[in-house]
Amino acid sequence: MAMAETPALLELHEIEVRAGDGGAMLLCGASLTVRPGERVAIVGPSGAGKTTLFRAINGTVPVSGGTIRFAGEDVTGDAGAALRRLRRRIAVIAQKHDLVEPLQVHRNVMAGALGRWSTGRAVRYLAWPSHAEFAEAEAALAAVGIAHKLRAATKSLSGGEQQRVAIARALIQEPMLILADEPVASLDPRTAVDVLTLLCGLAEKRKVALLCTLHQPELAARFFGRVVEMAHGVATERPAFAGGTRGTSLLPAA
Ligand SMILES: Nc1ncnc2c1ncn2[C@@H]1O[C@H](COP(=O)(O)OP(=O)(O)OP(=O)(O)O)[C@@H](O)[C@H]1O
Ligand SMILES: [Mg+2]
Repeated sequence: MAMAETPALLELHEIEVRAGDGGAMLLCGASLTVRPGERVAIVGPSGAGKTTLFRAINGTVPVSGGTIRFAGEDVTGDAGAALRRLRRRIAVIAQKHDLVEPLQVHRNVMAGALGRWSTGRAVRYLAWPSHAEFAEAEAALAAVGIAHKLRAATKSLSGGEQQRVAIARALIQEPMLILADEPVASLDPRTAVDVLTLLCGLAEKRKVALLCTLHQPELAARFFGRVVEMAHGVATERPAFAGGTRGTSLLPAA
């Protein structure tokens, strides 16, 4: 099926977000469509509204106008159980990654699974992780190249390794969409390329859509099929990428 005919996974239509009730406009009619499995970079200066856009998508900030559709449903203003269901399908890798540093690595990884577990299972896991759960965490860590860190204290890991833990946690959630907010901002250029290669390659292999903010336009062009520019709360597709061309595949040739 041609890209243009593929049903959208995420559709933002002219969404508006205000800073508090009646406050300044942080998003002023931002529109964006992401198809299943697509990789889209969002670039733009500090304060442009990139993180706010992500918060609006996963319902962390309310929208004061416009609509958000996800997987064919209108999810605008979802709350309670509907919002929890939405958040199970959207994994977030936060700008300041929110790993719990004193915990062992496997616990941070398995936190990604808590949303799909019953409360009883989550409580039991916190007290007595099973062999199967260790194995699941180890497999996720192996996918990001640090299986040997399973039982290490998270705070003992380097910045690049911690970013890999955050990616493993996002993948274990089995999401349809990953929102990665500046996942390489705090890394040296070489590690940044390694982490982006890993993140984009895993998203492609598992057919998960990826929306990723970046400050480096050259990395956006290299790793992403589409680049969207944010400025003053509005998202604009880079003309060279309009029409949904795909970035170079990161998977080895079959
Ligand atoms: N809760 C809030 N109340 C008031 N203003 C806010 C709030 N959250 C964000 N802002 C403002 O909204 C604007 C956009 O912020 P946002 O964090 O979305 O920018 P960004 O594009 O992610 O920037 P950066 O590249 O620095 O991460 C900024 O001017 C910020 O100060
Ligand atoms: Mg931000």
